[in-house]
Amino acid sequence: MQNILVTGGAGFIGSNFVHYLLDAEPDVKVINLDALTYAASPENLENLPDPGRHVFVKGNILDRDLVNGLMQEHSIGTVVHFAAESHVDRSILGPELFLQTNIMGTFTLLEAARAFWSGKGLEHPEVRFHHVSTDEVYGSLGPDDPAFSETTPYSPNSPYAASKAGSDHIVRSYAHTFNLPTTITNCSNNYGPRQFPEKLISLIILNALAGKDLPIYGDGRQVRDWLFVEDHCEAIWTVVKRGVPGETYNVGGNNQPTNLSIVESICDLLDELVPDQHTPRRNLIKFVTDRPGHDRRYAMNIGKISRTLGWRPRHTLQNGLRETIQWYLSNMDWANAIRERNEYQKWVSKNYSQREKQA
Ligand code: NAD
Ligand code: TYD
Repeated sequence: MQNILVTGGAGFIGSNFVHYLLDAEPDVKVINLDALTYAASPENLENLPDPGRHVFVKGNILDRDLVNGLMQEHSIGTVVHFAAESHVDRSILGPELFLQTNIMGTFTLLEAARAFWSGKGLEHPEVRFHHVSTDEVYGSLGPDDPAFSETTPYSPNSPYAASKAGSDHIVRSYAHTFNLPTTITNCSNNYGPRQFPEKLISLIILNALAGKDLPIYGDGRQVRDWLFVEDHCEAIWTVVKRGVPGETYNVGGNNQPTNLSIVESICDLLDELVPDQHTPRRNLIKFVTDRPGHDRRYAMNIGKISRTLGWRPRHTLQNGLRETIQWYLSNMDWANAIRERNEYQKWVSKNYSQREKQA
């Protein structure tokens, strides 16, 4: 058995990764460390394939004793690190938690891994610290700029992006200084099942189903590069298994729609799949005050991971969106549980009214 410590495995991408890994790898055991913040859902870990190979630990990555203890108790060979504060809007309203979790949390994990693996032997083929990061560390592109590559200089614009950039640099320094076998993936915007409904696509699907406003920040012409979450999970596992220690890999979906066009596509798909009194749902679109410092365009050059490791996204945006919508339609209990627990709509309204006051 290969014992893998997954952090943040009750959140969106982490939980999809746990499902993916238990399904794909019969000889892997997952130790899943998650603090169960607002963004986590215990429901994300229901119906796991072979749940006997999954151990859930509720705890904080900042808790040194806990992390050191887990490394020893489970003889962890591989760390895949997702846990983070991940929402840009929240980082604008309250940056401090982002610095603590994303920077100091990553540091705590690196120290625990270094201490434990130094005794075990850093050369062991299983030993790997994989850090999951974002394209937002590269900043914003102009309309004609080439896509971000692994050599694009870092230029993070939001407190979220800056905290992820900080964590990337610390990971890199542990590879360079202490020979810790690390890899980093910098990935574009994900969408798919089990995404907390504060990010664009999950929020729009659930609001559109409920006949609520579909908020578009600013002019809606910002561009993101969207990747279906399962494709991201496959990319991460490919890099953990075959990526070169010390290297970073850009991951993306090879598409760049504007926010407005993606929201319109969701409306049209929902009108087709669930025609009801809210059709046509494009009428629900509402332009609202822009996000401060809003990055205009992201695009990823995925040449390195495609050429060297043979990974490419399997889903187009259209079939990924259809699959995502179908998942939400079949899992409305999931959405209702989250809504009740977190009252996210209340949070969203507060967020908007604060911004209106600032503007
Ligand atoms: P998420 O917000 O859905 O989940 C984060 C998880 O981390 C939650 O389960 C939360 O409880 C846990 N967590 C937060 N603080 C913790 C702490 N101190 N200790 C233990 N657990 C803690 O995030 P996500 O969208 O799944 O993103 C996962 C990772 O992928 C993040 O590192 C993010 O920066 C990165 N990423 C996300 C995207 C995206 O589009 N969502 C794109 C690229 C990279
Ligand atoms: P988001 O999902 O928050 O991801 P990120 O900011 O990390 O890219 O937002 C995606 C894009 O959608 C971004 O340009 C902001 C925009 N957006 C809206 O227009 N309305 C919304 O309600 C949200 C949450 C985002």
